[in-house]
Amino acid sequence: MEREISIKTESLTKVYTDFWGRPRVRALHNLDLEIEKGEIFGLLGPNGSGKTTTLKLLLGLLFPTSGRAWVLGEPAGNVRTYQRTGFLPEESYFYRFLNAEESLDFYGQLFEIPGKERKKKIEELIELVGLREAGKRRIGEYSKGMARRIGLAQALINDPEVIFLDEPTSGLDPIGCREMKDLILELGRRGKTVLLCSHLLADVEDVCDKIAILHRGSLTRIGAVKDLLTIKHIVQIAMKDPSEKTLEEIKAILKREGTEITGLTHPTETLEELFLETIKEREAC
Ligand SMILES: Nc1ncnc2c1ncn2[C@@H]1O[C@H](COP(=O)(O)OP(=O)(O)OP(=O)(O)O)[C@@H](O)[C@H]1O
Ligand SMILES: [Mg+2]
Repeated sequence: MEREISIKTESLTKVYTDFWGRPRVRALHNLDLEIEKGEIFGLLGPNGSGKTTTLKLLLGLLFPTSGRAWVLGEPAGNVRTYQRTGFLPEESYFYRFLNAEESLDFYGQLFEIPGKERKKKIEELIELVGLREAGKRRIGEYSKGMARRIGLAQALINDPEVIFLDEPTSGLDPIGCREMKDLILELGRRGKTVLLCSHLLADVEDVCDKIAILHRGSLTRIGAVKDLLTIKHIVQIAMKDPSEKTLEEIKAILKREGTEITGLTHPTETLEELFLETIKEREAC
């Protein structure tokens, strides 16, 4: 099957200049990326490594100093692609006096979604991002996590094919994080292409098919998450309730063969799993 590329950059470079046009910060340097249709791609890197700059260049909100970028086959920033693109910025700005429904209605009108369809879409999105109870409250009163959720709903109002998410889990509690990650996975299942950036490694590991690591504007690693994280020279066996005798025999075989045992432990849950289980138990009481 032929690979369909949704996002592509070629030697993409951004140097921020000062008022006089003198180079000040080299934020991105010769970035080459290809992101396939339906892929969930994570851009990782410490603060200031060029993640947001990359997203802004792809959205056409910034002009590159050199190099090129394409989204859905069109040069970045082409108005035709805006209809098919969604964006959750690092910080969303809304009209504080509108409630969630009114705000989404406003964006729906910008995309010229007809009235009936728009109403249905807004209801679906409010449900999807878990804001049903707060749908009629003014956005100015929202907590940080709630604002993040309405930001995501806004990014999805036009049913985009490509979605850019800048730090999607920032400000969300662990339940909100899990929901956001499930939502991103669902977008992937629906064939959407997602490019997200984050410095929360666990989040990226849970949802992304492929990642790239930026360091001071340069690409340092790229690959499938599984490939990058698999320690190929170590093999783990999981057994359910083995007897002492079985364990001793296995150890004896490995010793005879000259294979070093590097670890023999019980697996642990992640803190996220433990947290979610605890909350679920409490809520069931
Ligand atoms: N408008 C601007 N003018 C000048 N320099 C800028 C501008 N925006 C970003 N930079 C600089 O470019 C570099 C990359 O910034 P960018 O916002 O892309 O990083 P980031 O990886 O998104 O960081 P964070 O994790 O903190 O969001 C930083 O050194 C930053 O100070
Ligand atoms: Mg950023």
